[in-house]
Amino acid sequence: SADLEKKLRPLVDAIQSGKKITFFNGAGVSTSAGIPDFRSPKTGLYANLAKLDLPYAEAVFDIDYFRENPKAFYTLTQELYPGKFAPTKFHYFVKLVQDKKLLKRVYTQNIDTLERLAGVEDEYIVEAHGSFARNHCIDCSEEMSTETLIEHMNNKDKNEGIPTCSACKGYVKPDIVFFGEGLPSRFFDLWDEDSDEVEVALVAGTSLTVYPFASLPAEVGKKTLRVLVNKENVGDFKAGKRRSDLVLLHDCDYVAEKLCELLNWKDELDAYIEE
Ligand code: OAD
Repeated sequence: SADLEKKLRPLVDAIQSGKKITFFNGAGVSTSAGIPDFRSPKTGLYANLAKLDLPYAEAVFDIDYFRENPKAFYTLTQELYPGKFAPTKFHYFVKLVQDKKLLKRVYTQNIDTLERLAGVEDEYIVEAHGSFARNHCIDCSEEMSTETLIEHMNNKDKNEGIPTCSACKGYVKPDIVFFGEGLPSRFFDLWDEDSDEVEVALVAGTSLTVYPFASLPAEVGKKTLRVLVNKENVGDFKAGKRRSDLVLLHDCDYVAEKLCELLNWKDELDAYIEE
């Protein structure tokens, strides 16, 4: 812990001097909310999909596979659907950074919307892999309301609970980005604006294996303070390590808490969590 405090010093100094934070979040920031990540060896989603009979784990989020076998995705969605989970300490830390006027942006790969639920404002959030907020037919693009989608999912007698389009009978899918699909234009537009202006890049809970998201930390300027908070060292923090990088191989809630202690923000963090 004394070691972590020492390592956090450059980050504390940067924050105290008014530098803004850009977050790059992955599934690891939500595991303490009870949502499994994807690639952790025993607990990750991809290690626990045997019951879905997939040709390979990532097929569950593959658009070509979905066209033929939508059932696997909808079986999984029953478990992962937003609404059942509460934000973590780390998410409230992001909200606290926002309220201190020190948030530049939150790029998140997560589809759980926990940044929103913690109170981070829309303008700051980039849901790089989409979200469950809207749904469209994969054939004719007709929109389906979330209310109707959930009705379909709950009605197992009709089409095994797989939502189908009222216009063309095609399968309907939430607007989360599958393998084989493009990322939302908001991701590219905002990264164009932000990439040169990142003062502090805080990368947390991600294996940095899925592109283009995984390349963002490598694209920030040489003056950016890059911080990795993750259980393992990954991506450009390994392959392209910079001298000023902070690599903190710890639990992200724990680091958020330590950081708040050092910044004298701990009472405010606790107050958000208790609300
Ligand atoms: P991964 O499951 O690939 O990586 C999660 C990382 O978080 C791993 O390196 C873990 O060691 C680490 N981790 C887990 N719990 C942690 C904790 N409490 N504190 C700190 N670190 C922790 O998840 P992502 O990198 O987010 O895409 O995966 C990227 C994309 O792959 C996802 O958005 C998803 C998936 O296929 C789509 O569905 C499009």
